[in-house]
Amino acid sequence: MTSIDRRSFLRAGLTATTLGAATACSAGSPAATPKLIGPDSPLVARAEAARSKTGRVVPATLKATAGPVDLGGVTVHTWSYGGQIPGPEIRVRKGDQIQALLRNALPAPTTTHWHGIAIRNNMDGVPMITQSAVPAGQSFTYRFTASDPGTYWYHPHVGTQLDRGLYGPLIVEDPGEPAPYDQDWTIVLDDWIDGTGYTPDQVLADLRGGMNGMGSSATASAPPSPTMNGMSGMNGTPGPTMSGASSSLLGGDAGDVRYRYYLLNGRVPAAPRTFAAQPGQRARVRFVNAGADTSFRVALGEHTMTVTHTDGYPVSPVPAGALLIAPGERYDVLVTLGDGAFPLVALAEGKGALARAIVRTGAGDPPPVTARPAELDRVLRGYGALRPVSSVALAARQPDITRRLELTGTMARYDWGIDGRSFDMADPGPLRFPIRQGQRVRAVFANTTMMYHSMHIHGHTFALAGSGTRKDTVIVLPGQEVSCDFDTVNPGQWMAHCHNLYHATDSGMMAVLGYET
Ligand code: C2O
Ligand code: CU
Repeated sequence: MTSIDRRSFLRAGLTATTLGAATACSAGSPAATPKLIGPDSPLVARAEAARSKTGRVVPATLKATAGPVDLGGVTVHTWSYGGQIPGPEIRVRKGDQIQALLRNALPAPTTTHWHGIAIRNNMDGVPMITQSAVPAGQSFTYRFTASDPGTYWYHPHVGTQLDRGLYGPLIVEDPGEPAPYDQDWTIVLDDWIDGTGYTPDQVLADLRGGMNGMGSSATASAPPSPTMNGMSGMNGTPGPTMSGASSSLLGGDAGDVRYRYYLLNGRVPAAPRTFAAQPGQRARVRFVNAGADTSFRVALGEHTMTVTHTDGYPVSPVPAGALLIAPGERYDVLVTLGDGAFPLVALAEGKGALARAIVRTGAGDPPPVTARPAELDRVLRGYGALRPVSSVALAARQPDITRRLELTGTMARYDWGIDGRSFDMADPGPLRFPIRQGQRVRAVFANTTMMYHSMHIHGHTFALAGSGTRKDTVIVLPGQEVSCDFDTVNPGQWMAHCHNLYHATDSGMMAVLGYET
């Protein structure tokens, strides 16, 4: 089939169930063939109707736009939501309906994906799978009920757009939140290269074409082909592809891309944000890793954090000096603040640089830009210490089906995939794994590669087999197998993929978990 044929085939498949034809027609036929439950299926609408609602509608506008953004004395030309990085924080209460108008003023199609939150499938923002991408100059309104409280975020699901400035936090408050706090701070971390001599598209081209110093440039106007071996790109800065980023916490290779800056709430380390409070106050700090290729190790100097949530879901409180946060993951912590000025740092794991902010509750010199709190060495290792609170624990049940997703590929060939295949949005083929409503599914991520992957499933918060920790994004170390259990209660077509942007986009470490009737 040509790709156009495949596309119309896919559309036809989704349309059949959209119209409810699958169930209607199968009644009289000898063997009912399973049909995909498409994003516009009545079953999706039914699941949405069943969500508990406050009746409140919270409007938001996301204007995706190209232009200059000040990162704190460094101005870059990039793509952002409304010229600010991170994009506007959307904050609602559990059960509210979000009505987010995406206005696409970019020179390219885009979408918005709502990372981690279980919503109706046709609002999930995945081009060709749940909607058509929004063309340049056009708009799309996302409308969905946010029924699960927690710390989430949003970003496009198109090409390398996430590694520009297109991301923002989505906070769903819980009116029944048991642990009180005086301050509520959102910290969004990012690795930055766009507008510093390279675009993310050039980074991807270099990764795919040039691991042996033979970088292929995407366009004629691209800077001289950069390599990892010390040759310099534009402005004498090192090229974007990297070797030697290494971390024992990540099982070796810590990333593929050499970034120019690491940002905390859109600021370079020389121009940090200051969070002000009173000594003795309790702060809830919500960490979001919006980076494309960087895990961050976060700590607050002279404080021990108490971990209360991961990926939006509560855990039994655990003390930690530092936390490792992979791309796509979130953690919420509580800290009781001392008196003074303290460095809040996010170490780019294995990359020898950091992002930072200052927490100030009293007088005193600000911590130096190089401050590296000792707490960074008291990092919580793995997920073993995290246990879900009973209200969010998944009931014990044997899986009805187990799907093994082998993570494959090598850095040298840059051929990341699942089961040795590279995902194609237009034709998922064998990378569409059928599941059905009412099942307990076990997805087993088996990492056969030499590098860690940060694996994410859309539309469901799974439980890690063993600890039961509820998550939607999980680190899978080289050689490791991680089992993720979930109940199929949210019909539709849902992506499962690595959240290292350069492993997923075009490089192909993606699959679809596709509900069928
Ligand atoms: Cu942040 Cu497909 O995900
Ligand atoms: Cu990966």
